[in-house]
Amino acid sequence: MGTILIHCQWLISMAEGQAPIHDAYLKIVDDKIAEVGQWQEAMIEPGAEVIEAQDKLVMPGLINTHTHAAMVLFRSLADDLALDSWLKEKIWPLEEKLTPEDVYAGTRLAICEMLRSGITTFADMYFFMDEVARAVEESGIRAVLARGLLGAGPEAEKKLEEAIETGKKWKGKAEGRITTMLGPHAPYTVPPEFLRQVVAASRHYQLPLHIHVAETRNELEEISKEYSKRPVAYLAEHGVFSRPVLLAHGVWLDEGEISFLSRQKVAVAHNPASNLKLASGIAPVAKMLQEGLLVSLGTDGAASNNRLDLFAEMRLASLLHKVANQDPTVLSAETALKMGTINGAHALGLAEQIGSLEPEKKADLIMIDLNQSHLTPCLNPVSLLVYAARGSDVTDVMVNGEWLVQAGKITKWDESEVIKAAARTAADLLKR
Ligand code: NI
Repeated sequence: MGTILIHCQWLISMAEGQAPIHDAYLKIVDDKIAEVGQWQEAMIEPGAEVIEAQDKLVMPGLINTHTHAAMVLFRSLADDLALDSWLKEKIWPLEEKLTPEDVYAGTRLAICEMLRSGITTFADMYFFMDEVARAVEESGIRAVLARGLLGAGPEAEKKLEEAIETGKKWKGKAEGRITTMLGPHAPYTVPPEFLRQVVAASRHYQLPLHIHVAETRNELEEISKEYSKRPVAYLAEHGVFSRPVLLAHGVWLDEGEISFLSRQKVAVAHNPASNLKLASGIAPVAKMLQEGLLVSLGTDGAASNNRLDLFAEMRLASLLHKVANQDPTVLSAETALKMGTINGAHALGLAEQIGSLEPEKKADLIMIDLNQSHLTPCLNPVSLLVYAARGSDVTDVMVNGEWLVQAGKITKWDESEVIKAAARTAADLLKR
C-alpha cells in the first residue's frame, strides 16, 4: 500500500481539542494514519504518493450505528404507515420470503449507497448474516454485524445458534473490518426466557448487544400490560445492561432511565429520520447529552427513512432538537458531527481504531468537494458540513487505507450491475 500524502483545503480530524486545519496534509502509511498537520510542515519522502486535493475537505468516515442494510429492497414499498402495521402487515410477510441471495443483493446496494455518501462503517441487524458479511468483505467497508433475534421456543433458539456462529465466525475477519454483536430485536419481540438465553450467550461469547428500545409509545403500553413495567426495567431485570449495549432509538425514555443508562455506559443510536417518518416521536437527545449518555447516529433501514445518508441525519438531528427544545444552542453543528463520527466509533467499541483522524488509527476517511455553489463560502467548515453539505458531495472514500470510492465511483464493484441486480431482486420478490 505504501505512503500517501493528501494535500487538502481543510482537514477536520475530530481529535479531541483539534480545530479544523486549513491548507492541511494527512499522511497515510499502509492502512493507518501516520501524521496530520499544516501542509507547509509536511515532509515528502521519496516514493510517497502525493494527492493534490486543494478543493477538498478531508474528514473521518461517517459511522452509521443502526441499520438493516438489505431493507433497501423495500424502499418506497410501504410508506405512510404506523410502525405496528408497517412491520406486521407489510415488512414481516415479505421478509419471510427473502433468500440468502436476496439479502446479498440488497446489502450490496446498501453498501454502494452508504459508501457513496461517506459512510465507512455500519452496524447491521438482519439475517442471513453470512451473505451480509460476504458483501462487506468484498466491498472493503467496515461493519458490525448482528443477526436479529426474536420469538420463542426451538425456532428462536435456532436463530440464537446461528447468531453465535456468525458472531464467532466473522469476528475480526476481512482484515479486521468485521466485528460482531448479538441482536435481540426489541423488548416486545423477545420474551423473558429467550432474553435471558441471549444475555447468557452475550456473556459467554463476549458479544455486545444491539437492540431496539423504547421506540414507540405502543411498545411502552405493550410491555407495561405484559410485565407491569417499562421496557428499560424489563431489560434490566433480565441482565441486559450487565453487558455492553448499543440501544437503538430510545424515543420514550424518561429522565430516570436516561441517567440509569448513562451510568451503565449504554450507547444510543439515534435515528431521527426513521422516528419522524414512522411518527414514533422525538427522542430526548438534549436530555441524553446533558446526562452524559453517548449518542451516535443511525439511518435505520431504508424502508423507514428512506435514505442511508448520514449527512441528512446530522442535519436533521441538529434541527429537530433545536425546535423540540425551542433552543438553537441545544445541539450544535460540532455535536452533530461528533455524533456522526467519534461517538459512533465509541458506540461500536471501535474508538481506538476509527472515528477520528489521528496517528495510529485506521485510515477511514472521506473527501468532500468544496468547489460547489452550495458549499461557498467556507467560513466555518464544521457548520458547512452539518447544515449545507449532502451525501452526494462526497467524492472519495478510503477504508483501512484502501480507496473504495474514487472521483464518485465505487472501485470494487460495477455499481450499475449492483443496481440492476437489486432492482431485479426487489421486483421478483413482490411476485413471489
Ligand atoms: Ni431498526
